Amino acid sequence: MNDPVFSQGSVLGRFGVVVHGGAGNVRPERRALHIEGCRRAARAGLAVLRDGGSATDAVEHAVRALEDDPIFNAGTGACLTADGIVEHDASIMEGHDLRAGAVCSLRGFANPVLIARAALDDGRHVLYAAEGAARFAAERGFVPVGDAALVTEAAREALAAAREGTGPTGWAGGTVGAVARDASGLLAAATSTGGTVNKRAGRVGDSPLIGAGTYADDEAGAVSTTGHGEGMIRLCVARSAVEAMRARVSADEALRRTIEHLRERVGSVGGAIAIDRNGRYGFARSTATMSWAAAWEEGEDAGI
Ligand code: GLY
Repeated sequence: MNDPVFSQGSVLGRFGVVVHGGAGNVRPERRALHIEGCRRAARAGLAVLRDGGSATDAVEHAVRALEDDPIFNAGTGACLTADGIVEHDASIMEGHDLRAGAVCSLRGFANPVLIARAALDDGRHVLYAAEGAARFAAERGFVPVGDAALVTEAAREALAAAREGTGPTGWAGGTVGAVARDASGLLAAATSTGGTVNKRAGRVGDSPLIGAGTYADDEAGAVSTTGHGEGMIRLCVARSAVEAMRARVSADEALRRTIEHLRERVGSVGGAIAIDRNGRYGFARSTATMSWAAAWEEGEDAGI
């Protein structure tokens, strides 16, 4: 029998940030590290809001902090393809006018969320892939660090284990994301990942897809997801949860229903975080763990 989907919600208030460090099954001795990484990222996002930055700026900064932390499956330390290379996916969305930017199968850049943000600001296209995404990044002044700089020993070991059949394949955990509300009521969401361990070259998951991995609409809510990308894509999980919030379902209940539907309809597991238009936040997971942290005007919380 499946365990129930675990969900929790609370009030964030006027402005704040919620982040996740990926649905999966983090070993007990490493859980504190994941929680601390999430706390640092949520605080980085909150600092932006305190300085008068927008919700979009806040999720960008929070996800950048998670990309820079090698324990997560994003940015440096992201999982490797079957060819032993990092191929990043990332997206960001602003809930005021539904502007969005995204990159997928992007190689050689440390912070794909910044390139997604540049696409949002540029406004001509929403999603750039592979070589075209790298060219867009270079044209916007981003300097590639190269493939090798993104690869950690832990990622190499995870790929070796997947190849030998002693570790998970088609699953990495550790995708990262953030949702935020600023003092003007603007909502935003962002998600970033290396995808799944041992994935085929060119495989794209839910994280860069608006509606699957990321969605934000000031009139309803903002969502970032983590988990089996193939299932998330087929059920447009992020948008589904936002539509439930539009129908006045609370953030945590919207996510609980969506993650349960994901498991029951297509047999996929995962998790998600959300903020609704009234400043309530929530999260849900059907996996053993999903590290998360929230930071707002008057406090913070975190868990796994
Ligand atoms: N949810 C991340 C991925 O499947 O790529």
